[in-house]
Amino acid sequence: ASYKIAVIVGSLRRDSFNRKLATAIAKLAPPEFSFTQLEIGDLPLYNQDDDANQAPAVKRLKAEIAGSQGLLFVTAEYNRSIPGVLKNAIDHASRPYGQSAFAGKPAGVLGVSVGAIGTALSQQHLRNVLAYLDVPTLGQPEAFLQANDKLFTEAGDIGEGSKAFLQGWMNAYLAWVKKHAA
Ligand code: FNR
Repeated sequence: ASYKIAVIVGSLRRDSFNRKLATAIAKLAPPEFSFTQLEIGDLPLYNQDDDANQAPAVKRLKAEIAGSQGLLFVTAEYNRSIPGVLKNAIDHASRPYGQSAFAGKPAGVLGVSVGAIGTALSQQHLRNVLAYLDVPTLGQPEAFLQANDKLFTEAGDIGEGSKAFLQGWMNAYLAWVKKHAA
């Protein structure tokens, strides 16, 4: 079997640590899993008036999610919650009512921040949203990462200090996806 993972990065910043993390962690999975980072920066601001006539970028996002076997959220923390760009994307893909792209898709949640709590509060808010959307989210292990010089190697891989831990996280996540795909 092969599994497509739709990766949603909760930051639009060019040099985003979360985007780096999303790219690096995908390399810890075997080739039967393919990871694609979805574009959310070109989505309009969500407006319920447009539900019957969703923009092409919204339709694309929904199709990418619907065509995946798993979701991976890698998000920044803004003001102790998820960035607005991520919430905007989630709101789009959840609508119109009854036509959410999310229901039943297994998910993992990761994040890195410059602060010591490593996106813990952002991830907790995201879990709340995903619970409502009927997205079964891997509970353990949790991964709260703080950005520092050693988190990534020069080549953009996970640094030695976090590699074993994140490989363990990835193994649990892949098993979670497989279990829900079966
Ligand atoms: C932040 N940052 C931040 N960090 C954190 O640990 N907790 C927080 O609540 C916040 N709040 C916050 C609000 C806003 C508006 C910004 C711009 C930033 C800092 C944040 O961790 C840092 O900018 C990271 O680099 C964001 O992740 P990316 O963009 O590198 O992926």
